[in-house]
Amino acid sequence: MSDSRTQALNTIRAEHRTLAAVIHNLKDLLTEVHAQRMKVDFPLLWSMVYYIDAFPDRLHHPKEDEWLFRLLRQRTHEADALIDELQRQHTHEPQALGEIRRWLGNVEAGVPGSMDALMRTVATYAEFTWRHLKTEEHELIPLAETHLTSADWDEIAHAFAQNADPLNGFGEADAFHQRFREIVERTPAPLGLA
Ligand SMILES: [Fe+2]
Ligand SMILES: [Fe+2]
Repeated sequence: MSDSRTQALNTIRAEHRTLAAVIHNLKDLLTEVHAQRMKVDFPLLWSMVYYIDAFPDRLHHPKEDEWLFRLLRQRTHEADALIDELQRQHTHEPQALGEIRRWLGNVEAGVPGSMDALMRTVATYAEFTWRHLKTEEHELIPLAETHLTSADWDEIAHAFAQNADPLNGFGEADAFHQRFREIVERTPAPLGLA
């Protein structure tokens, strides 16, 4: 396996893990608050929602769309239908996050029934995201491994490396890493992202 390929796939999987971890924790935190085992921390909840909204939208999905998916479409038509579906899911995401923001706002405003609605919406979103990440890892990546050239992997690795480089751009990637660390630190025990 080429170094670029290993590097690109490691970065993609690591990004999936941080995203999944925050969603998982949001879900667990709401369960604890609902059961009155924990006090509600709205800044933490909003910070998590911001992260799961903005990180994929600003950094992760654009790199998939513009590099991984684009190059794979050039090499084969075998993945076309799968990529169509994954890109449809990328565009659906802001809508799903809009729903979560709406219900979280209603919970903060003390609207009756809104906590149940928020928990349902987050659970649906979590399921949707697990499916998306699993499909990419178990279906899309194997096709990419079969069809992409080592020059393709060089380009993809370079694009994703920007996400991990704090000196890149306006430090946006670094700001997301920082926020992730803050979320980890603020999440009360026994929950956590270890
Ligand atoms: Fe994706
Ligand atoms: Fe992804």
